[in-house]
Amino acid sequence: MTETTSVRVWDLPTRVFHWLLLILIVVCWFTGEEKGAATLIHRLSGEAIVGLLVFRFFWGFWGGEYARFSKFFAPPQEVFTHIKELMRLRASQTLGHNPLGALASLILLLIVALTAVSGLFSADDDRTGPLSLLFNVNLKELHEVSFRVLQAMVAVHLLGVAVTSFASRENLARAMVTGAKKRPAADAAPDAKTASRGGLVAAAGAALLIAGGLMLMPHPPQAEDHESGHREE
Ligand code: HEM
Ligand code: HEM
Repeated sequence: MTETTSVRVWDLPTRVFHWLLLILIVVCWFTGEEKGAATLIHRLSGEAIVGLLVFRFFWGFWGGEYARFSKFFAPPQEVFTHIKELMRLRASQTLGHNPLGALASLILLLIVALTAVSGLFSADDDRTGPLSLLFNVNLKELHEVSFRVLQAMVAVHLLGVAVTSFASRENLARAMVTGAKKRPAADAAPDAKTASRGGLVAAAGAALLIAGGLMLMPHPPQAEDHESGHREE
């Protein structure tokens, strides 16, 4: 039996970011069209996502080795080679994102950002994003469309993770939970270089400041609050 060794790849903040993002997107999804208290949950959860994105932005410069954006960009040749490998269902194993996974991750992050920021500028009868009120604009249509694109992209992401896990014979989802990937002992690699504590504090501080600031901004009374106790259709 081949002896294996464990290599630390995803740092804890990157993993917490990923799974919190998943939870908050699901919360936004199920509260997006509801009325009453759900509109407040939608707003707070969406604003927390903005905070997460601010964190991830700075973490892309100050984070652990494989969380850095400098590790995201592979030459086009490597992307094509990876696609060809995937079509043969035999992909080579990578420590951080594979060339296509990195591209997909960037696109996902951008679409989540577009959805969340357009939400801040959206309004309907039941709710108003804080920046919609401030700048007197309504990006409701963009918010809806970008959410549909996000749903499609999440489906592509899940398919990508499943196919790549199969083709590279490694459990990528488990690595996003434990932070480690297994390698044959003969092929051992060093653990990812860790981030500075200062970078973590600064990125988390910026995220809390932005998300907290948005949450504290005024928003108009929720239409359904006046009818609390009434059954909602
Ligand atoms: C709303 C749902 C989801 C969203 C928005 C999402 C978003 C993302 C993003 C933005 C990244 C890049 C991570 C980074 O560098 O910061 C990523 C990576 C990853 N996600 Fe998700 N994710 C979702 C659901 C899931 C689920 C359910 C799984 C597990 C089955 C999963 C498994 C992974 C894995 C394994 C990676 C690393 C990919 C690689 O190795 O290149 N994701 N995801
Ligand atoms: C990634 C984060 C977000 C997701 C996934 C999301 C998702 C959704 C969905 C599915 C709807 C229903 C759209 C429809 O009527 O079909 C919605 C509506 C809405 N969301 Fe969000 N949202 C997010 C962030 C935000 C944020 C940050 C705010 C503002 C604080 C916000 C404010 C609104 C408002 C005002 C509406 C009603 C306007 C409309 O119908 O489009 N959302 N959102």
